[in-house]
Amino acid sequence: MSAATPLPMALVAEITHRCPLRCPYCSNPLEMARASEELSTADWQRVFAEAAALGVLHLHLSGGEPMARADLPALIRAAVEAGLYTNLITSGVLLDEKRLVQLAEAGLAHVQLSFQHADGSEAERIGGMIGAHAKKIAAARLVTVAGLPLTCNFVIHRQNAWGVGAMIALAADLGAGRVEIAHTQYYGWGLINRDALLPDTGECNAVTTAVEGARETHQGRMVIDYVTSDYHADRPKSCMGGWARRFIVVTPAGRALPCHAAETIPGLSFPNVRTVSLAEIWNADPAFLRFRGTGWMPEPCQSCDFKEQDWGGCRCQALALAGDGAATDPVCGRSSLHSSVKELIAARPVAPPPFVYRRHAGHAIPE
Ligand code: FES
Repeated sequence: MSAATPLPMALVAEITHRCPLRCPYCSNPLEMARASEELSTADWQRVFAEAAALGVLHLHLSGGEPMARADLPALIRAAVEAGLYTNLITSGVLLDEKRLVQLAEAGLAHVQLSFQHADGSEAERIGGMIGAHAKKIAAARLVTVAGLPLTCNFVIHRQNAWGVGAMIALAADLGAGRVEIAHTQYYGWGLINRDALLPDTGECNAVTTAVEGARETHQGRMVIDYVTSDYHADRPKSCMGGWARRFIVVTPAGRALPCHAAETIPGLSFPNVRTVSLAEIWNADPAFLRFRGTGWMPEPCQSCDFKEQDWGGCRCQALALAGDGAATDPVCGRSSLHSSVKELIAARPVAPPPFVYRRHAGHAIPE
């Protein structure tokens, strides 16, 4: 490892792409891994030990729906034994009391529960699963009764932006210590559904105002994290804390990535944890080195005072908007394409088109 190599902070283990929900902004790739391609229990346990040895502190167990894997307690136990702090990112629809006890006994430290809306019928329309909302509410109550810390997540878009106040109130009512209000990111399924999801500037500003008001209301009782909309900004965010600087994502089939959507970038091939150690990947894999740091940056990024704060924004967004993963992120006001992002917001259809729901052909979902 060179002196310039940062230490990874977190491993995002996408242990399965299987999921009963069909959210139209899902961060999973359009081509999802089948159950038969998933890493085995032993593979994941080895990867967790490698991650801890590399300096990783946090393990985010994600998906798809991670509870679709029956070996989840064994995975959590191995992660805890390796010294990792475990966070389960779940829709909650497969969680019941018996399974929660198993997870808690295995050492699970935190639960992050996703919601689509505070309004049940709207939530189920957006998530594409009837009956999901009541299951999520029940799951949240089980989590807090068990004494586990709870974060509620809401992904914001034009079809639920008006309800953000009610979403934050729901999280407070459920006993969440933290709520994350995050605007949709437009790659993968979110990019396909952009016209159905992208808010206008007024809707976006109203969400910001609602969040600021709620922060005052809930101060000292619940933390409200707010992930602003990239498309409405003039400065890019540091995506994933910078390419291959803080996160390693491992897909269900074992490919290691610097971010969820990295495989959309042409010309990069990603290593598999079945055959390469996490340390080799982090320290030397060409795809991980490709956009790490600042050396790869074009102008005007190269001479920008903020280049070590935003690390060039989002490479997958640059690909989606500029057709080039190495371009200046067009959401930046200094990009020559910045005005095209604003035109894109102005040109969205007045009425949102129907959602294209994510599909998971060939995936067996447990009852
Ligand atoms: Fe890939 Fe932002 S999602 S760099």
